[in-house]
Amino acid sequence: MPSPAEKRKIRQAFSRAAASYDRVARVQRRICDALLARLEPGASGIALDAGCGTGYALPALAARGQQCIALDHAIGMLSAQHSAGMCADIEQLPLRDACVAQYFSSLAWQWIDAEAAIREAARVLRPGGHLAVATLAPDSLAELRQAMRQADGREHVRSFAAAEPYAAMLQAAGFSEIRIERQVFQDHADNLLSLLRDLKALGAHTLDGARSAGFLPRAALQRAAAFYEQYRVEAGLPLSYDVVFLSARRTS
Ligand SMILES: C[S@@+](CC[C@H](N)C(=O)[O-])C[C@H]1O[C@@H](n2cnc3c(N)ncnc32)[C@H](O)[C@@H]1O
Repeated sequence: MPSPAEKRKIRQAFSRAAASYDRVARVQRRICDALLARLEPGASGIALDAGCGTGYALPALAARGQQCIALDHAIGMLSAQHSAGMCADIEQLPLRDACVAQYFSSLAWQWIDAEAAIREAARVLRPGGHLAVATLAPDSLAELRQAMRQADGREHVRSFAAAEPYAAMLQAAGFSEIRIERQVFQDHADNLLSLLRDLKALGAHTLDGARSAGFLPRAALQRAAAFYEQYRVEAGLPLSYDVVFLSARRTS
């Protein structure tokens, strides 16, 4: 569970990245599209996009005929949008009970306490309402994690929560029809430096925690870059995103 100080750092990193996010969010778009494709047809009522970022999913949610609430805790992300948004924490939604028909969240839950997010989703969803979430599982960024370890033998890439407990957590919070799918998506970069630059432009450089790559001596970074070369394919250096798609219905 992120501490208040970690949350502030995450929020500030995403706010600062708002202007560059759309330029580099290639794999994030594909994951968001895959989550949108998993939504059931024939929706009505309010759709909440929790951790909406620059608002990529909002037109598709609105096109389903749903009134949308765009929510993000990074004010910079909300300012990058054309529509109004709600600046708030996914773990403490400023919404009344049972007012949402569709809870949607793409790539925000890996930054938060999933149990708190599930409790809040269950609270704001109306009976029969649907939850669709894409989040990251432990094998995400595996190549980068391995390569950065070669720099100085320490961890530089944060870990991601295991996918297995989600089913029990959702069930305990009052969800049924639970479906959990896992799919790996890959992005590619020309070299390690541009890969790290892209992560920073996404706002995800807090992945590197206190021991950010920017503070590494040149020789250490070169060791990491040399190690990463073993993964190179024709498209460049791959970076894998091990995605968990959660789908569940709020029990009536
Ligand atoms: C990787 S971006 C994804 C944005 C968007 N959903 C997309 O698919 O492009 C993650 C977003 O989650 C937001 N976020 C992270 N933790 C949050 C929290 N506790 N409450 C609200 N938003 C949060 C970040 O500010 C950021 O905009």
